[in-house]
Amino acid sequence: MESKVVSMKNVLIIGNGGREYAIALTLYQQKLEKKNDLDEIYFAPENAAATKFLNAKALSYKDFNELYENIQKHRIYLVIIGPEAPIVAGLSDFLWAKNILVFAPSRANAELENSKVFMKSFVSDLGVPTAKYKKFTLDSIHEADKFIESLKLPIVLKASGLCGGKGVLILDSKDEARAKLESMLRGELFGEAGREVVIEEYLQGYELSIFALSNGVDYTLLPPCQDHKRLLDGDKGVNTGGMGAYTSHSHFPARLYDAALEQKIKDRILTPTFKALYAADGRGYQGVLFAGLMIVNGEPYLLEFNVRFGDPECEVLMPLFESSLLELLESYARGVSLDKSSVKIKNKSAVCVVMSSADYALDSKSALAFKGDYPALVSFKTPLDSNLTSIDSAILDSIESNLGHYIFANVSVKNNEIYANSGRSILAVGLGDTITEARNNAYKLVENIDFKGKHYRKDIAYQAI
Ligand code: AMP
Ligand code: GLY
Repeated sequence: MESKVVSMKNVLIIGNGGREYAIALTLYQQKLEKKNDLDEIYFAPENAAATKFLNAKALSYKDFNELYENIQKHRIYLVIIGPEAPIVAGLSDFLWAKNILVFAPSRANAELENSKVFMKSFVSDLGVPTAKYKKFTLDSIHEADKFIESLKLPIVLKASGLCGGKGVLILDSKDEARAKLESMLRGELFGEAGREVVIEEYLQGYELSIFALSNGVDYTLLPPCQDHKRLLDGDKGVNTGGMGAYTSHSHFPARLYDAALEQKIKDRILTPTFKALYAADGRGYQGVLFAGLMIVNGEPYLLEFNVRFGDPECEVLMPLFESSLLELLESYARGVSLDKSSVKIKNKSAVCVVMSSADYALDSKSALAFKGDYPALVSFKTPLDSNLTSIDSAILDSIESNLGHYIFANVSVKNNEIYANSGRSILAVGLGDTITEARNNAYKLVENIDFKGKHYRKDIAYQAI
């Protein structure tokens, strides 16, 4: 007699920030819509709000071996890695060797994000347009000083290694640039990550975040996004990990993105890069590749590659998946060649507004050194709907609403109440047919949440409106 095969679609998400919560939320919403046969969502480490609102389970992860034991114990069939650090630490390769399905590229491919020096040299060899640059270490500091002297202001200094998105300094004076360069090269400013520095030409234009899903054989583009890196309205204040983002399937303004620009991005940046990656690495490139671009007079230049979804770009892309996200991520992880039409995107727009604590990212040092010791109670101001009385019901209701929802990054739950830890804690994602409509919905959600020191930008998506 044939034994009955029980489908146990347990998924593990590595990472517990807003990006990972957004992936879990879409999986969970699509399960409610019966678009997937998901069983349980596990998080490592725990995201307290995903446990509370998405019935997610926490899975302990001290080291790769313990993780693997837990993956077996809980019969996880697909691992989705959110942040770059575990990929750079070799987690995808470790799990592949154990025959576990993983949505993330290899350690070798992660070098594109791990080292700006590697990335610049890799793409320069392919003729990909990128800012002119030179790389320096402490041994070549005198040449670096001369190079700075030869450049026009402002000066762009980039720590080669991983700095959580904070390793780029744009300086308006050459003296300051030389001083910062020296403290980077001495390991004082960004530790080991800053001991090698890329100094590059400043590019004046507007930025786009472009995401390509790749199965190791070919790639598919997702709708374009714009991030808002600066802390304050009008793109003022320090660079942060991102204060908001937006995307749109068909209402992205043509002055920022059109078919001609998309073709240039593919022909000059993505196709040559993927061709080289497919040829070089045994697994090709499986996962998502994030190209941070500067568009200068209509021409795209590559600023950076990341080997993961952007945060907060992921938060606006996830709700636009019409296709089953679980099936898609699974096929990409399997390296199955997909019919491009299988990535179906809703004809919608999404705008995400990040709510952070007032003292977040005052300077790159305090942001990096942040310890999360400013808990503040989330209180619920005005019900979304007058029948709702508690914050929990408002949040649960928003999960099933098509106007928008909350995303939780850095929160803890104590005595059944949600606390916003400092940093980027709670995000509001508004949805709509147009960017304006999505933005209005996002700000309605923002107004409904309050906590001590709440800070957010009031101009997210201004370039599109
Ligand atoms: P990156 O991590 O390389 O993307 O740099 C972080 C941010 O610094 C980018 O999103 C840009 O806002 C800015 N940036 C980086 N490189 C340049 C450049 N060459 N010219 C102007 N702005 C830049
Ligand atoms: N939003 C930019 C990043 O994730 O690096």
